[in-house]
Amino acid sequence: MPNNHHNGRHFLQVPGPTNVPERVLRAIARPTIDHRGPTFRTMVFEILEKLQIVFQTASPVFVFPSSGTGAWEAALVNTLSPGDRVIIFEAGYFASQWQEMAKRLGLDVVAIVGDWHSGVDPSLIQDVLENDHQHKIRAVCVVHNETSTGITSAIPPIRQALDDSKHPALLLVDTVSSLGSINYQHEEWNVDVTICCSQKGLMLPPGLGFNAVSRKALSVSQSCRMPRSYWDWENMLHFNKDGIFPYTPGTNLLFGLNEALTMILDEGLDAVIARHTRYGTATRLAIDSWGLTLVGRETSQHSNSLTAVNMPTGYDADQFRKIVLDTFNLSLGGGLGKLSGIVFRIGHLGDFNDLMLIGTLGGVELGLGRMGVPHNPSGVQAALNYLSKVDLQ
Ligand SMILES: Cc1ncc(COP(=O)(O)O)c(C=O)c1O
Repeated sequence: MPNNHHNGRHFLQVPGPTNVPERVLRAIARPTIDHRGPTFRTMVFEILEKLQIVFQTASPVFVFPSSGTGAWEAALVNTLSPGDRVIIFEAGYFASQWQEMAKRLGLDVVAIVGDWHSGVDPSLIQDVLENDHQHKIRAVCVVHNETSTGITSAIPPIRQALDDSKHPALLLVDTVSSLGSINYQHEEWNVDVTICCSQKGLMLPPGLGFNAVSRKALSVSQSCRMPRSYWDWENMLHFNKDGIFPYTPGTNLLFGLNEALTMILDEGLDAVIARHTRYGTATRLAIDSWGLTLVGRETSQHSNSLTAVNMPTGYDADQFRKIVLDTFNLSLGGGLGKLSGIVFRIGHLGDFNDLMLIGTLGGVELGLGRMGVPHNPSGVQAALNYLSKVDLQ
């Protein structure tokens, strides 16, 4: 009989949902209140203001009771009309899922397919835009941090590609696994719609989706004709002006959101980003020291919120994750889509500290040993050496 008993606490190191801080859990546990009452309205105004700081924008940020997938749909149905042409750069599994959604919604998708080992190539987007003389393409959709590959694409060069081709298409960016952990500036980078959700860098359970929206996107939404009701920005804007929502919101998740945003702003956005950079670097040093390799080819594109690791040939990544979960009570992310079984992913984002990182890397190193995967048992030490030299901010 297998012994399923575990002492101590579970290590949740999938790249989202992430660990929810005690402070946030306690906020969520408060009694539910009237979602049209004065206390609630005051909180909503606070939340909307703090969200603008975290998304780095003075334009509206909409909150939906949804997952990230709902926030993708909200972005598409508020900016497009049936049959509109959109570019989606497929640099990994999540971009491919977004593409599937766009097709199901009846959009005409121009897919630029990457190799899943590097990020978005702005020059390929520029080529397509420059050949679109009649400006039939209405939107360019990219994922900032591809959670399936651990690759971050720089957004400013993509914006530049749109500007250089003098193309009026909107720029839609998915920041599901980057906001609140990797530098992201909605307004400065001139993004039209930023998509996010609650369960990663924002340190909440799943259940809230976000759209940060530019003035241009808001104005386009006035005339576009995709059917929409639940996701309608205009209706949301109308109610949000009074600190309420068009329907019953996720009241207790909003308590949690208010607390989580306070925590992020108290720590300081720059410090949050520096902390994630430190953990990304320490993790990559451990991987390198074990003699393993990353999915991402380009060093400059390695993600600081998660690390996707190639399992050595002949070893099954899912079997490895099972051993690590069963033996050490540590959840790691699996390979998605065509990376299934050959990749495992370590989440190092959200409410996370030095000792949690060392515990996580310790579980990986022990698991490699248990499974008999050839490696140098020096990864944890490499991470420790780095952490001891590079101070917390
Ligand atoms: C980059 C990215 N986009 C979109 C999604 C979809 O979000 P959800 O599962 O909350 O619908 C995910 C989920 O992990 C993701 O990582």
